[in-house]
Amino acid sequence: MNILLVGSGGREHALAWKIAQSPLVKRLVIAPGNPGMETLGELVAVKATDAEQLAAVAREIRADLVVVGPETALEQGLADRLAAAGIPCFGPSAKAAQLETSKAFSKAFMERHEIPTAGFGVYERLHEARQALTVFKPPYVIKADGLAAGKGVAISPTKREAEREIEWMLGGRFGQAGARVVIEEFMDGEEGSLFALSDGRNYVLLGGAQDHKRAYDGDLGPNTGGMGSYSPAPVFTPELVEAAERQVVKPVIDGMAAEGMPYRGVLYAGLMSTADGPKVVEFNARFGDPECQVLMMRLGGDIVPMLLACARGDLSRATLPEFLSETVICVVMAAQGYPDSPVEGSIIRGAEQDFGPNVQVFHAGTKRREDGQLVAAGGRVLNICARGADIAEARERAYSAIRKIDWPGGFYRTDIAWRALERE
Ligand code: AMP
Ligand code: GLY
Repeated sequence: MNILLVGSGGREHALAWKIAQSPLVKRLVIAPGNPGMETLGELVAVKATDAEQLAAVAREIRADLVVVGPETALEQGLADRLAAAGIPCFGPSAKAAQLETSKAFSKAFMERHEIPTAGFGVYERLHEARQALTVFKPPYVIKADGLAAGKGVAISPTKREAEREIEWMLGGRFGQAGARVVIEEFMDGEEGSLFALSDGRNYVLLGGAQDHKRAYDGDLGPNTGGMGSYSPAPVFTPELVEAAERQVVKPVIDGMAAEGMPYRGVLYAGLMSTADGPKVVEFNARFGDPECQVLMMRLGGDIVPMLLACARGDLSRATLPEFLSETVICVVMAAQGYPDSPVEGSIIRGAEQDFGPNVQVFHAGTKRREDGQLVAAGGRVLNICARGADIAEARERAYSAIRKIDWPGGFYRTDIAWRALERE
């Protein structure tokens, strides 16, 4: 098979690593990829936002399957273009991806299908949004409607701060993505990310992971795309998974199909485990980053038949995913200054050594200089992933690998998986 993989982050490096192990793959082309993927496939310099060029590459290489990593390509309609060209695509149509790309769409969808989530209102006008704040209780949860690279959510302790956030958003801080704001009830509980694969009608659960959104130890500092993850996550008790499947995953897949927007690809349900059971924080139309990294390392068997079955619409006949019983942890190394202004260009040494069979280092934001030297070229730069019999062993392996990497320009959290360790 010829496969085109779209994206350039740690998530895509992990997908490439897993896909490249499949005996079914003849040719793996990655657009645009990163230096960590050089040995796994052929890199082509087409951006993940350029749906037209990506579809052209897919035709040119006679792709049997296109696997889409990031949401931007989906929002641009890459899956729709590929469908028109008759090329199977793992990733939803632009319409179905609205579950992620429009919070107003996703909240209204959940309301129509009685999927548990925080109570909400959607506002386009400043005075209406301000007025609505009198109905909600603090802390106030304010969200830009559209994609804002993970920065479009504010949790404000006071009404004054909430008003300021609304003014900024409606005033154009996120451009068109902030033309509407969603105000939500605050949900109290522990968060987790649950993943399911779907072909538009059938689905299989891939299990859960937990992410760490804040930049610094102790869950302090600014929100980020994710500083670390681990799977399995003890927050996902069998009861929580059962309730989430029944109340969230199944109604989403059934509801999207019934509304004429069948959902093909991976459904990422960001859930809050509350006293009233699971409630949806958000949906994403793609694998999480860095959750994907730990899922790929836990997945036994071949991932390609599953991805292809989702893309083709025949998941019911595919072999079910098999997960290793081990725990996997991922620690993100970020460039100094991340998330606000990461410093680029610092030299990284030791990231490409052999760390043994239980450790994988995925590249997220690296560049290879002409002299071959690896340097930082993004906010999140390296993902150090390790497997272990339990969380403590996986954690020890990940952090001992980090100690072998010489990169003064980077930083990382030292407490990834603290919630799981506290329970043990
Ligand atoms: P989102 O981009 O929607 O995932 O929101 C970013 C983060 O804000 C989430 O991971 C939660 O930690 C937090 N958050 C979002 N919505 C709520 C809510 N209604 N109640 C409590 N926390 C929330
Ligand atoms: N790690 C959170 C996300 O991928 O959205």
